[in-house]
Amino acid sequence: MTTSQASPQIPPKCLQEHDLSEECKELLSILPKEKGWIGSYIYNYQGFWTSSKIIQGVIACQQHFQAQDSDIILVTTPKSGTTWLKSLLFALANRMKHPIFDQNHPLLVKNPHDLVPYLELKLYIDEQVPNFSSFTSPRLLSTHLPYASLPKSVQESGTKLVYLCRNPRDTFISMWHFSNSIRLDYIGTTNSIDEMFDLFCKGVSIYGPFWNHLLGYWKKSTEKPNKVIFLMYEEIKQQPKIQLRRLAEFLECPFSIEEENCGVVDEILRMCSFENLSNLEVNTNGKLSTGEKNKVFFRKGEVGDWKNYFTIEMSEKLNHVIEQQLQGSGLRFLYI
Ligand code: A3P
Repeated sequence: MTTSQASPQIPPKCLQEHDLSEECKELLSILPKEKGWIGSYIYNYQGFWTSSKIIQGVIACQQHFQAQDSDIILVTTPKSGTTWLKSLLFALANRMKHPIFDQNHPLLVKNPHDLVPYLELKLYIDEQVPNFSSFTSPRLLSTHLPYASLPKSVQESGTKLVYLCRNPRDTFISMWHFSNSIRLDYIGTTNSIDEMFDLFCKGVSIYGPFWNHLLGYWKKSTEKPNKVIFLMYEEIKQQPKIQLRRLAEFLECPFSIEEENCGVVDEILRMCSFENLSNLEVNTNGKLSTGEKNKVFFRKGEVGDWKNYFTIEMSEKLNHVIEQQLQGSGLRFLYI
């Protein structure tokens, strides 16, 4: 554990551990808990691990969110490239309203997290019953909730679910860096890689177990391919055009021949690339409406950074856990 010299700042609402409702405090007192990645503790609620304030957001979201058939909800495992996919989804679904070659495109001045807000992490933490009147159709929303914990109306409506995951090694490294950079800002200390790796392998990661999250959506995507599309970070890196066209078709807004000929597909990919987004003023110096620095969402944006951190023992241990957990599912990762 290291300690920073700078004095900690006030954390955003979703990371605050005080100011909980009496109902939530009572619930927390009986939930299993482990050391937290960012805050003091992480709790097991409905079979997944998350922090105290987020549980309050989850409960409000499950009780009050009313999905519409036209909604598009991006679901991700944390640190799988949510920021990237939010930008791709926004550019794709809004390309009539905001042409991608527009000099004033919203992605040039706003962080993707402000354009595609989280349900339980933002909207239902800010307010018990958020006001959706400023949203235009299709509403673009996001969540990290496992399938079984989605509000019933999301499961039962025509809402489309875009699911994204990433190989467990890079996800772990990205999560460890991200949680440490947030901890340094708000708490002033960091967690060691060994300690967090053991927790990850035990299933104790943010919204983990990692494998349960994936399997829930993998199963649904095979049962209901018109409801859930299953995407992988590595596949988008490897075949960006193919995956973007696949997403457009799933969302029933395929690219026209004119768009293909005008280079719309290439321009969306360029606009949303790590190089472009991470160098924009808004993402280098700006902050989210919730207070986090936008730059924490852009680190390296590569496949395979795990090789700079993993020992042979770590690779073997995680391989073993993943093989056991995904056995028979048909789900395979690319470690390109
Ligand atoms: P690394 O930490 O490996 O660099 P999330 O958005 O789910 O929080 O995931 C963050 C990860 O996605 C980080 O990975 C980040 O650098 C990467 N990322 C952010 N924007 C990206 C983009 N436009 N293209 C590819 N990767 C991106």
